Amino acid sequence: MPIYHKLGKIPAKRHTQFEKPTGGLYYEQLFGTVGFAGMSSLLYQIYRPTMLKEILSEKNISPNIAVEKHLKSRLLKGFDIEAKDDFLESRTPVLVNSDIIISLAAPRKSLRNYFYKNADADELIFVHQGSGKLRTQFGNIDFEYGDYLVIPRGVIYQIDFNSENNRLLISESFHPILTPKKYRNNFGQLLEHSPFCERDYKLPTELETHEEKGDFIVKIKKQNILYEMLYPTHPFDVVGWDGYNFPYGFSIHNFEPITGRVHQPPPVHQNFETDAFVVCSFCPRLFDYHPKSIPAPYNHSNIDSDEMLYYVDGDFMSRNDIKQGYITLHPGGIPHGPAPGSYERSIGQTSTAELAVMIDTFRPLQLTQEAIKIDDGKYYQSWLE
Ligand SMILES: [Fe+2]
Repeated sequence: MPIYHKLGKIPAKRHTQFEKPTGGLYYEQLFGTVGFAGMSSLLYQIYRPTMLKEILSEKNISPNIAVEKHLKSRLLKGFDIEAKDDFLESRTPVLVNSDIIISLAAPRKSLRNYFYKNADADELIFVHQGSGKLRTQFGNIDFEYGDYLVIPRGVIYQIDFNSENNRLLISESFHPILTPKKYRNNFGQLLEHSPFCERDYKLPTELETHEEKGDFIVKIKKQNILYEMLYPTHPFDVVGWDGYNFPYGFSIHNFEPITGRVHQPPPVHQNFETDAFVVCSFCPRLFDYHPKSIPAPYNHSNIDSDEMLYYVDGDFMSRNDIKQGYITLHPGGIPHGPAPGSYERSIGQTSTAELAVMIDTFRPLQLTQEAIKIDDGKYYQSWLE
C-alpha cells in the first residue's frame, strides 16, 4: 500500500524504549515484505508476538485439481457454490495456478471463534453480496457491496457479517498485490490520470487493543496446510503502529472509468497489478462517441494470458444469458470476442450499466473439481451461428 498510515500510540523514535504506563516495555514488531526491502509497518504490542503454546493440528487444504491442461472456454455458475457457516470452509477454490488461487465463498456466519492468517498469499476479497466489518490487528475496516479488501500476507484477521447472505470472490496472490505502476509517480502517489486516488481508499480505523490472556486459536495457512496454532495472548494486542504495509479497502463504485471516441482496451479498466496477473474493474460508463463506433469489444487473441471475468451486476453487453456470479474463462491461445448478435446490437447504445471484475493471469489456470461441478460445459461453442 503506497501510502503512509498510523493508528494508536507509537514512540517518537523507532527502535527505542516505549514504556507501558503500568511499567515494562511494549514489544516492537517489524511487519515487512520482500525481506527487508518491501513495504513494512512497525507494530507495538502488549505481549511478545512470538509466544506460542501449541500447534494443535494441521490439515491439507490443497485445491483438488480436476483439469490441469485445457484449451476450452468455460462458463462457471458461481452462485451455485454452496453456502456454509464457517468462513474458511466456505472458501471454494475454482481456478488455480502457481501464482493465484481464485475462490468463491458464501459464508453465513461471522468469523469469531478463531483468528485467521494467510502466511503464503496476499488476499483480495471482492464483496459481491453482504456487508460487515473486517477486524485485524491493524484496525478495522467496514465493508459493503462492491468493496475490494486487500489483506497483505501475514495479517491476522476476523470478519463480521451483518447478515447470512454473503457472496465473495477471493483471490490469493503469491505475489504482492499493488496498484498499477503506470498510475503512480516516483514517490508512489497516484497521478492525475489514474481512475482512482488516495481519497478513495478505506483505511483501517478503530484499533482494537485487547490486553487479554487465555487460549486463542489462530489458523495459519502455509503451503496449503492449515495449522491450528494455540497462542496464550489475544492476537489483537497492538497499541499503535505506523508504516506502509496494512490492509485496506477500495470500492469498485469509486473506480472512474476511462472512455474514448473508439473502444478502449481492458488496460484502461486496470485496478490492481502483480507480477503474475492484473485485476480490472468494468464499471458503468458512457460508451464510445465516434459516429461510427462499435461499443462491443473486438475479437481478440489473448495468446499469452488467461482471462477470467466475474459478472457482478448490470447487463453485460458483449454476452448473452449472463447472470450474477457467472464466471467466464477464456484460455490463452485462442481468440474470443462478443457473443453472436451483440456486436451489432451494441451500435447506437450510449451507455452500459455492466459491473464486472476481470482477472488476467500470465500463466494458464487449472480447474478444480468444484469448478467442474458448476461448469455449463457448452460455453466454448457459444460463438457458433
Ligand atoms: Fe477478453
